[in-house]
Amino acid sequence: MTSAFFQGEVCTGLDERWVKVDQWSWSQTHNSTSVPTQETIDKALKYQADSGLPDIAVSPARGKFLYLQAKLSKMLTTFLTLTSIRKNILEVGTLSGVSTIFFATTSPTTKITTIEINPQHASVARHNLATANVSNRVEIILGEGIDVKGYYSYYMISSSLTRPKGLIIVDDVVRRGNLVDEGTARSNVNIEGARRVNSNAGRDGRVESVVMQMVGEKNYDGMLYAVVKG
Ligand SMILES: C[S@@+](CC[C@H](N)C(=O)[O-])C[C@H]1O[C@@H](n2cnc3c(N)ncnc32)[C@H](O)[C@@H]1O
Repeated sequence: MTSAFFQGEVCTGLDERWVKVDQWSWSQTHNSTSVPTQETIDKALKYQADSGLPDIAVSPARGKFLYLQAKLSKMLTTFLTLTSIRKNILEVGTLSGVSTIFFATTSPTTKITTIEINPQHASVARHNLATANVSNRVEIILGEGIDVKGYYSYYMISSSLTRPKGLIIVDDVVRRGNLVDEGTARSNVNIEGARRVNSNAGRDGRVESVVMQMVGEKNYDGMLYAVVKG
């Protein structure tokens, strides 16, 4: 699978086992009492596809992982996924609202502001959030959340917003391994930004950080975790 989001980046083949493991373990761990319900996720993803949006939402497993992180952490920052301070979450990059639905489900008091640059994506998200019955706690802002050149600037802003013991997650920083390809990085702002986030987090004396590579039905990528000291 490839997408506009990964344009110009060398792709690794999608290993069928990653897909099967994601789907099987999801079927075991996300049961009829789990939230958001399977029906809610399926409906949102179907409307996203029917509306012609790219297939770049979080996978259900990854959405649930972020949901669990949000539940565990008082403060969480992820992008293009979210920024959160206590139960107020700011998400940059809504797409069709799938990750927003996961976050909105963490607690009935969680309030989310989500920023989306593409009007069609925002409109699809509005529909999906209403269908998932969470629109009353989500505000969608149409506009440029942050300069897109930058995972780097996302990191800088978020680390300054995050309080001691807060967790910052920067999503999609491994870029199917292109992270280590300096040549590709020179012509691709996403890779260049991901590289800068890595080195910047390492130089930032306020945080302890690590990058976790991940594989799954959405191929191969990873997240940078940084916990603010204190
Ligand atoms: C990977 S998708 C987000 C996926 C979504 N968070 C999810 O997991 O379901 C990235 C989204 O960010 C939006 N985007 C890109 N640059 C942006 C910016 N500077 N400000 C706001 N949104 C942006 C794109 O239009 C796209 O909808």
